[in-house]
Amino acid sequence: MNANLRQATADDMSAIVALAMQGLPEAWSDSLMRQTFDTVGYDYWVFEQHKTVIGYYLTLDVCDETHLMQVVVAEHCRDQGIGKLMLGHLIAQKRGRRILLEVRVSNSAAIGLYRAVGFQRDGVRAGYYKALVGQVAEDAMLMHLAA
Ligand SMILES: CC(C)(COP(=O)(O)OP(=O)(O)OC[C@H]1O[C@@H](n2cnc3c(N)ncnc32)[C@H](O)[C@@H]1OP(=O)(O)O)[C@@H](O)C(=O)NCCC(=O)NCCS
Repeated sequence: MNANLRQATADDMSAIVALAMQGLPEAWSDSLMRQTFDTVGYDYWVFEQHKTVIGYYLTLDVCDETHLMQVVVAEHCRDQGIGKLMLGHLIAQKRGRRILLEVRVSNSAAIGLYRAVGFQRDGVRAGYYKALVGQVAEDAMLMHLAA
Protein backbone atom coordinates (compact mmCIF):
# COMPACT_ATOMS: atom_id res chain seq x y z
CA MET A 1 0.00 0.00 0.00
CA ASN A 2 1.56 3.31 -1.06
CA ALA A 3 0.30 5.14 2.05
CA ASN A 4 1.44 7.83 4.40
CA LEU A 5 0.17 9.37 7.64
CA ARG A 6 1.46 12.89 8.10
CA GLN A 7 0.62 16.22 9.72
CA ALA A 8 -1.73 18.23 7.50
CA THR A 9 -0.68 21.38 5.67
CA ALA A 10 -2.92 24.26 4.59
CA ASP A 11 -2.99 22.69 1.10
CA ASP A 12 -4.83 19.66 2.55
CA MET A 13 -7.77 21.68 3.87
CA SER A 14 -9.98 21.31 0.76
CA ALA A 15 -9.64 17.53 0.90
CA ILE A 16 -10.24 17.50 4.67
CA VAL A 17 -13.37 19.67 4.36
CA ALA A 18 -14.70 17.41 1.59
CA LEU A 19 -14.21 14.33 3.80
CA ALA A 20 -15.91 16.08 6.73
CA MET A 21 -18.92 17.05 4.57
CA GLN A 22 -19.18 13.48 3.31
CA GLY A 23 -18.74 11.78 6.69
CA LEU A 24 -20.07 13.99 9.49
CA PRO A 25 -23.70 15.06 10.00
CA GLU A 26 -22.45 17.97 12.10
CA ALA A 27 -19.52 18.92 9.84
CA TRP A 28 -18.07 22.34 10.50
CA SER A 29 -18.10 24.99 7.78
CA ASP A 30 -15.13 25.36 5.47
CA SER A 31 -14.19 28.65 7.15
CA LEU A 32 -14.37 27.23 10.68
CA MET A 33 -12.20 24.27 9.68
CA ARG A 34 -9.61 26.59 8.14
CA GLN A 35 -9.73 28.82 11.23
CA THR A 36 -9.05 25.88 13.55
CA PHE A 37 -6.13 24.85 11.34
CA ASP A 38 -4.43 28.12 12.29
CA THR A 39 -5.39 27.97 15.99
CA VAL A 40 -2.91 26.80 18.61
CA GLY A 41 -3.90 23.48 20.18
CA TYR A 42 -5.68 22.06 17.12
CA ASP A 43 -3.81 19.38 15.25
CA TYR A 44 -4.82 17.83 11.89
CA TRP A 45 -3.26 14.61 10.58
CA VAL A 46 -4.04 13.15 7.16
CA PHE A 47 -3.79 9.65 5.78
CA GLU A 48 -3.01 9.60 2.08
CA GLN A 49 -2.82 6.81 -0.41
CA HIS A 50 -1.26 7.33 -3.84
CA LYS A 51 -1.03 11.05 -2.98
CA THR A 52 -4.79 11.32 -2.32
CA VAL A 53 -6.06 12.23 1.17
CA ILE A 54 -8.52 9.49 2.17
CA GLY A 55 -8.70 10.08 5.90
CA TYR A 56 -7.92 12.57 8.64
CA TYR A 57 -8.21 13.13 12.34
CA LEU A 58 -8.41 16.33 14.35
CA THR A 59 -7.48 16.78 18.00
CA LEU A 60 -7.55 19.69 20.42
CA ASP A 61 -5.13 19.81 23.34
CA VAL A 62 -6.44 21.55 26.47
CA CYS A 63 -4.15 21.49 29.51
CA ASP A 64 -3.18 17.84 30.04
CA GLU A 65 -6.12 16.45 28.07
CA THR A 66 -6.54 15.79 24.35
CA HIS A 67 -10.00 15.89 22.77
CA LEU A 68 -10.49 13.76 19.69
CA MET A 69 -12.75 16.13 17.74
CA GLN A 70 -13.13 14.32 14.40
CA VAL A 71 -11.96 11.20 12.63
CA VAL A 72 -13.13 10.39 9.11
CA VAL A 73 -12.20 7.79 6.50
CA ALA A 74 -13.49 8.16 2.91
CA GLU A 75 -16.55 5.98 2.45
CA HIS A 76 -14.98 3.72 -0.19
CA CYS A 77 -11.92 3.10 2.02
CA ARG A 78 -13.65 2.03 5.26
CA ASP A 79 -13.28 -1.35 6.97
CA GLN A 80 -9.65 -1.67 5.91
CA GLY A 81 -8.06 -0.71 9.22
CA ILE A 82 -7.32 2.92 8.34
CA GLY A 83 -9.31 4.37 11.25
CA LYS A 84 -7.53 2.01 13.64
CA LEU A 85 -4.16 2.95 12.19
CA MET A 86 -4.85 6.68 12.60
CA LEU A 87 -6.02 6.29 16.20
CA GLY A 88 -3.05 4.06 16.99
CA HIS A 89 -0.86 6.91 15.84
CA LEU A 90 -2.83 9.44 17.88
CA ILE A 91 -2.54 7.34 21.04
CA ALA A 92 1.21 6.85 20.60
CA GLN A 93 1.68 10.55 19.94
CA LYS A 94 -0.33 11.66 22.97
CA ARG A 95 1.15 9.16 25.40
CA GLY A 96 0.84 10.45 28.98
CA ARG A 97 -2.28 12.51 28.24
CA ARG A 98 -5.91 11.60 28.87
CA ILE A 99 -7.83 11.42 25.56
CA LEU A 100 -11.54 12.29 25.58
CA LEU A 101 -14.30 12.19 22.99
CA GLU A 102 -18.04 12.19 22.48
CA VAL A 103 -19.92 10.25 19.84
CA ARG A 104 -23.53 9.77 18.74
CA VAL A 105 -24.94 6.71 20.48
CA SER A 106 -26.15 5.48 17.05
CA ASN A 107 -22.68 5.67 15.47
CA SER A 108 -21.81 2.02 15.88
CA ALA A 109 -18.84 2.13 13.45
CA ALA A 110 -17.14 4.91 15.44
CA ILE A 111 -17.97 3.33 18.81
CA GLY A 112 -16.59 0.00 17.50
CA LEU A 113 -13.40 1.75 16.41
CA TYR A 114 -13.00 3.59 19.73
CA ARG A 115 -13.51 0.39 21.72
CA ALA A 116 -11.11 -1.49 19.44
CA VAL A 117 -8.28 0.90 20.38
CA GLY A 118 -9.09 0.91 24.09
CA PHE A 119 -11.55 3.75 24.81
CA GLN A 120 -13.96 3.19 27.68
CA ARG A 121 -17.43 4.57 28.18
CA ASP A 122 -17.79 7.27 30.84
CA GLY A 123 -21.47 8.04 30.50
CA VAL A 124 -24.02 9.82 28.36
CA ARG A 125 -24.79 13.47 27.65
CA ALA A 126 -28.52 13.54 26.97
CA GLY A 127 -29.81 15.24 23.81
CA TYR A 128 -26.37 16.52 22.81
CA TYR A 129 -26.75 16.06 19.04
CA LYS A 130 -29.40 17.26 16.60
CA ALA A 131 -31.81 14.54 15.51
CA LEU A 132 -30.75 12.71 12.35
CA VAL A 133 -34.23 11.27 11.99
CA GLY A 134 -37.39 12.80 13.46
CA GLN A 135 -37.41 15.48 16.13
CA VAL A 136 -35.79 13.87 19.15
CA ALA A 137 -32.24 15.01 19.83
CA GLU A 138 -29.69 12.23 20.12
CA ASP A 139 -27.54 11.40 23.14
CA ALA A 140 -23.75 11.52 23.08
CA MET A 141 -21.68 8.73 24.58
CA LEU A 142 -18.69 10.13 26.46
CA MET A 143 -15.53 8.05 26.28
CA HIS A 144 -11.96 8.28 27.49
CA LEU A 145 -8.66 6.55 27.11
CA ALA A 146 -6.45 6.69 30.14
CA ALA A 147 -2.81 7.46 29.58
C1 LIG B 1 -15.68 5.58 12.17
C2 LIG B 1 -14.72 5.42 10.99
C3 LIG B 1 -13.65 6.49 11.06
C4 LIG B 1 -14.06 4.02 11.09
O1 LIG B 1 -13.00 3.96 10.14
P1 LIG B 1 -12.57 2.60 9.43
O2 LIG B 1 -11.30 2.86 8.72
O3 LIG B 1 -13.70 2.05 8.64
O4 LIG B 1 -12.32 1.66 10.70
P2 LIG B 1 -11.37 0.39 10.76
O5 LIG B 1 -11.48 -0.37 9.46
O6 LIG B 1 -10.01 0.82 11.19
O7 LIG B 1 -12.05 -0.47 11.91
C5 LIG B 1 -11.50 -0.51 13.22
C6 LIG B 1 -12.47 -1.18 14.16
O8 LIG B 1 -13.66 -0.43 14.25
C7 LIG B 1 -14.78 -1.28 14.38
N1 LIG B 1 -15.70 -1.00 13.28
C8 LIG B 1 -15.42 -0.47 12.06
N2 LIG B 1 -16.55 -0.34 11.34
C9 LIG B 1 -17.54 -0.82 12.12
C10 LIG B 1 -18.95 -0.93 11.94
N3 LIG B 1 -19.55 -0.53 10.81
N4 LIG B 1 -19.67 -1.42 12.98
C11 LIG B 1 -19.09 -1.82 14.14
N5 LIG B 1 -17.75 -1.73 14.35
C12 LIG B 1 -17.00 -1.23 13.36
C13 LIG B 1 -14.27 -2.69 14.35
O9 LIG B 1 -14.09 -3.12 15.70
C14 LIG B 1 -12.91 -2.56 13.72
O10 LIG B 1 -11.98 -3.43 14.25
P3 LIG B 1 -11.76 -4.88 13.57
O11 LIG B 1 -11.63 -4.64 12.08
O12 LIG B 1 -10.50 -5.34 14.22
O13 LIG B 1 -12.97 -5.65 13.91
C15 LIG B 1 -15.50 5.47 9.64
O14 LIG B 1 -16.58 4.59 9.69
C16 LIG B 1 -15.99 6.86 9.29
O15 LIG B 1 -15.26 7.66 8.69
N6 LIG B 1 -17.27 7.16 9.65
C17 LIG B 1 -17.87 8.49 9.35
C18 LIG B 1 -17.25 9.58 10.21
C19 LIG B 1 -17.55 9.36 11.68
O16 LIG B 1 -18.64 8.98 12.07
N7 LIG B 1 -16.53 9.65 12.51
C20 LIG B 1 -16.65 9.53 13.96
C21 LIG B 1 -17.25 10.75 14.59
S1 LIG B 1 -16.17 12.16 14.43
